[in-house]
Amino acid sequence: MLDISSHDVLLIGGGGAGLRAAIAVAETNPNLSVAVISKVYPMRSHTVSAEGGAAGVIGKNDSLDEHCYDTISGGDWLPDQDAVEAFVKEAPLELMRLEHWGCPWNREPDGHIAVRPFGGMKKERTWFAADKTGFHMLHTLFQTSLKYDAVARYDEYYATKLLMDDGQVQGAVAVELSSGKVQAITAKAVIICTGGCGRVFPFTTNAAIKTGDGMALTYRAGAPLKDMEFIQYHPTGLPFTGILITEAARAEGGYMLNKDGYRYLQDYNLGTPQPTPVLRSMELGPRDRLSQAFVKEFERGRTVEGPYGAVVHLDLRHLGEKKIEAKLPFVRELCLKYENLDPVRELIPVRPVVHYVMGGIHTDLNGATPLQGLFAAGEAACVSINGANRLGSNSLTECLVFGARAGRAAAEFASVQRPPGRHLLAQAAEEEERLQDRFLNKSGGRERIATLREEMQKTMEQSAGIYRSGESLQHAAGKLRELQERFEDIGLDDHSRAFNTELVAALELASMLDVAESVIQCALQRQESRGAHQRTDFPARDDQKYLAHSLVSRQADGSPVVSYAPVTITRWPPAERVYGK
Ligand code: FUM
Repeated sequence: MLDISSHDVLLIGGGGAGLRAAIAVAETNPNLSVAVISKVYPMRSHTVSAEGGAAGVIGKNDSLDEHCYDTISGGDWLPDQDAVEAFVKEAPLELMRLEHWGCPWNREPDGHIAVRPFGGMKKERTWFAADKTGFHMLHTLFQTSLKYDAVARYDEYYATKLLMDDGQVQGAVAVELSSGKVQAITAKAVIICTGGCGRVFPFTTNAAIKTGDGMALTYRAGAPLKDMEFIQYHPTGLPFTGILITEAARAEGGYMLNKDGYRYLQDYNLGTPQPTPVLRSMELGPRDRLSQAFVKEFERGRTVEGPYGAVVHLDLRHLGEKKIEAKLPFVRELCLKYENLDPVRELIPVRPVVHYVMGGIHTDLNGATPLQGLFAAGEAACVSINGANRLGSNSLTECLVFGARAGRAAAEFASVQRPPGRHLLAQAAEEEERLQDRFLNKSGGRERIATLREEMQKTMEQSAGIYRSGESLQHAAGKLRELQERFEDIGLDDHSRAFNTELVAALELASMLDVAESVIQCALQRQESRGAHQRTDFPARDDQKYLAHSLVSRQADGSPVVSYAPVTITRWPPAERVYGK
């Protein structure tokens, strides 16, 4: 039976960006009622697993312009420079605000905020709370959100559709996972903060929940996704599990070694070995370059063959137990638990792992999408500040800056809207019927969720990994169309309503297939190499044709179509990316 509730602003996603947006709505207009839907309890959102830190200029030796430049050059000139300028300016203010709300940032002995270097950042500007920064930030945001009576939570609800009236988004339909009940939540504005889509790949640092749901909801509702071809590999994941070994390990002075014990990054235009802590060079190069260097080392036969494929080594032994315990306790804990080794004495096997998607829902600087009433922020969105390659530690801050901006903009928008009409409920009833006919009451489907998911993930890894080619992408496009057709014949074994995890898996797979197609189509159309998008058949950057954002939209038959929009350049004309000087 359909349940109905009404709020002024509806947030989908309860992680860093979602909670920051919820607080911003409540602060902007205390008369608005705010709903937060999350498919997990908010403290289990993926923000919790962020480790290394959050970037924001603080020291006297740094400047806003330098943070801008690092971000723009790191993104291979694809970031919109007006967005980067706004981001960099508001970053320290947001981090300070979090301090006031109780975030336990590490401090220097004299009481100043401690900052560490991070990949591709030429100055030390990454704030951190040991190597559990995401946990502390999310905890701070969650407890702060509890102060606002206006914020109502729908924990463990899965959103399946946006409610639309004459092109305007006015709420969503969601399934309450504990009961299977379908809930229509109407709202004057909706903000999507559902995170990324790393799970379209088989080997990722991303939690199982990161299935691109919000991106797919938006795409199906008719708004484009932007720059989806840019998939970030983090250079140091643990083999098999894909668990992240934070860049902070290298920021604190860790070395990357090949099978000969050689610091191989000195061979890749990333600078020469320097005494620790290593700044600006080699191990602290940008992630796209480090991941590409791993592939080259593999091709040269200089990686180590492990039980789960080729790896290189991260060496922390010279840092000593005291420093590792003080600055990298979680790295030690993860190595002990998941690799049965102690980084104080042993080398850590690592390999590149899918970590982040630079693309996402196309928004402006205030999180507004082309659909009236719909906003987005965080990894689900693409403003864009990350361009073709995000710098480590910019994304936690992005959740704060653009979560707050989207929250304020949505609150202002909602404050002058009339309540949605009751006729939206017919759409919700239709959605309830669809879920029943398509999944819960259907019998005889021949296709299995796990089979399709595995085929999709394998296709993505083989065709859209660190290096791609027109041929591999063309193959992937055909394969994903086939998987979409086979998905129509999906069959569930579990027809019960309470905690039907098989239903959730089917809905997540539907999201991932849509998102995967958008990644492949954008990658196929972009015939150049830029940042994390490296085409073996088009190895050079081509600013003439592709200094542009790709926008992918869904056509009537469900297939993706790509167009382009200009990049905003304000003060930093395109140039070569130079590291290690
Ligand atoms: O390595 C890390 O701690 C990751 C940080 C990030 O992706 O921003």
